[in-house]
Parts: sequence; structure tokens; C-alpha cells
Amino acid sequence: MSGAVNFKKCGSVLVTGASRRQLGAWRFLTRQDSHDQEPREHATTSGTGRETRHPNIHIITLDVVNQESIEKSVEEVGQLVQEEGLNCLINNAGVNVVAGFQTVTAEMMIENFHTNAVAPLMITKAFQPLLKRAASRGGAGGTGSMGIQRAAVINVTSLLGSVELNWGERANNFNWYPYRTSKSALNMVSRCMAVDLEPDGILCMAIHPGWVRTDMGGSEAPLSPEESVSSLLSVIGGLTEKDHGSFC
Ligand SMILES: NC(=O)c1ccc[n+]([C@@H]2O[C@H](COP(=O)([O-])OP(=O)(O)OC[C@H]3O[C@@H](n4cnc5c(N)ncnc54)[C@H](OP(=O)(O)O)[C@@H]3O)[C@@H](O)[C@H]2O)c1
Repeated sequence: MSGAVNFKKCGSVLVTGASRRQLGAWRFLTRQDSHDQEPREHATTSGTGRETRHPNIHIITLDVVNQESIEKSVEEVGQLVQEEGLNCLINNAGVNVVAGFQTVTAEMMIENFHTNAVAPLMITKAFQPLLKRAASRGGAGGTGSMGIQRAAVINVTSLLGSVELNWGERANNFNWYPYRTSKSALNMVSRCMAVDLEPDGILCMAIHPGWVRTDMGGSEAPLSPEESVSSLLSVIGGLTEKDHGSFC
């Protein structure tokens, strides 16, 4: 079964840090505040009942480093998904605090670590009951197999978090201490969560979106956001048990 076909069987998707992107038919977008109009034009604003082009897309305000905001977003999503639960949580929000050995400070390390590694853990903990509810329904067709048609947590990581790749000929010039260590930590958070979510049938894995022309990736990046999102949808849509706990 292709990833795209599988995605149609996924009832709800929550994407954090989507305020600068338009992600087509995904059901929920989250954002920090309302300064960007583009996703708003493609969505209804949760709680207002205002309908525009895609009434099944809802914008939910979420600051990923604020626990109160996380808990509020869980309540909002719970109201939307009801007894069906949440099928797919994509921890996408991230920041890149650029600093090398001479310029890095403790505050920079902690800021990047909080957004990129601590927040995905706290968000997943908070959404676990909704993910568990979806997983307990057994997925499309009630087969009980793992995947986004049942329940999944996808952590958007980076190759720059790889300890192995940052050595010898394969090392590059991006000697960004805060960002690289935060993504290494996220990779371990993903592995630990995979162990803890498995008994509930919730798939958990980490994925690298490629080097993409976004505000973070810059204009030199080879992939457009559309190309990256298209491949991500294809990969995420095709995930099965064998991908649980993996990095791809
Ligand atoms: N671009 C690349 O080449 C590349 C490569 C590897 C991995 N990644 C990863 O892919 C993910 C998306 O990156 P991107 O390229 O789309 O970056 P981006 O253009 O800088 O967008 C980052 C997104 O994260 C949101 N965000 C940051 N802090 C937040 C917070 N505290 N609460 C809620 N939202 C927050 C931003 O919201 P605001 O607009 O409200 O600030 C924005 O929507 C990140 O995890 C990044 O590390 C990107």
C-alpha cells in the first residue's frame, strides 16, 4: 500500500510549528500566534466556527515551551477528536540557535535544548491519552497493526544530530553546538519514547526532512518545502512496525 493511500486512513494529524507552512489536507495545524495569514486562509480557527477553504483543518495556538499552552492545546484537540482520539502527532516545531565553540553560551544551549528536545517529550506526554485512545481502536479496519492509521508520534530531527556523521570526511562546517546537540538529544528522546509507547501500540520514530529552503534551511538548500513535505507524507504514510524506534 502506498504512503499516500495510507494517509487517507489517518483520521487526525497534529503538526506543531506549522505557522509558516500550508500542509494541504492535514487535519490540525498548530502555531505560536496569529501573525501569519497563510495557514489561516486554509483553515478554520478552532473555537470560532469560522469556515474557509478546508473546514477539516484547524489552527490551534501552541507555544511548545509553555506547559500551560500545551495543556490547553490538549483540551482543544480533545474536543475536536472526541472518542476517536488523535492518530498522528508530528513534533515539527524547532529553532536553530547558531553558535560555535567561541560564541556559545549556556543560555543558548538551554534555549535550543528546550524547544527541540524537551518540548517534543512534554507534548507527547500530554497527548498520550488521546494517542492511546486512537490506538485502542485498532486503526483502520481494526487490524491492530502499527502505523499512522492507528497512532504514531513522528519527531522531526536532523542529520546534523548524528554523532557518527560529525567526524572525518563526512563532517561539515555546521559547527552549531546548540542545534546539533539538541537534535542528538531528540534522537535519544525518540528511542526512549518508542520503548514506553510500544505497549499501547503507538509507533514512534524520528525523521530527517532533508535540507529544505525554509527560514531555517536558507535559500541554498536543494529541496523546496513542497518537495520535502511530499516525501515526508509518503514515508510517514507507509510506516509499519518495522519502523518503530527508527531514524530515517
Ligand atoms: N529546513 C531544513 O533544512 C531542516 C533540516 C533538518 C531538520 N529540520 C527540522 O524541521 C523542522 C521544521 O523546520 P523549518 O525548516 O520549517 O524551520 P522554520 O522555517 O524556522 O520554522 C520553524 C517553525 O517552528 C515554529 N516554532 C519555533 N519555536 C516554537 C515554539 N516555541 N512554539 C511553537 N512553534 C514554534 C515556528 O513558529 P513561528 O513562525 O511562530 O516562529 C515555525 O513555524 C525543525 O524541527 C527543524 O529542526 C529542518
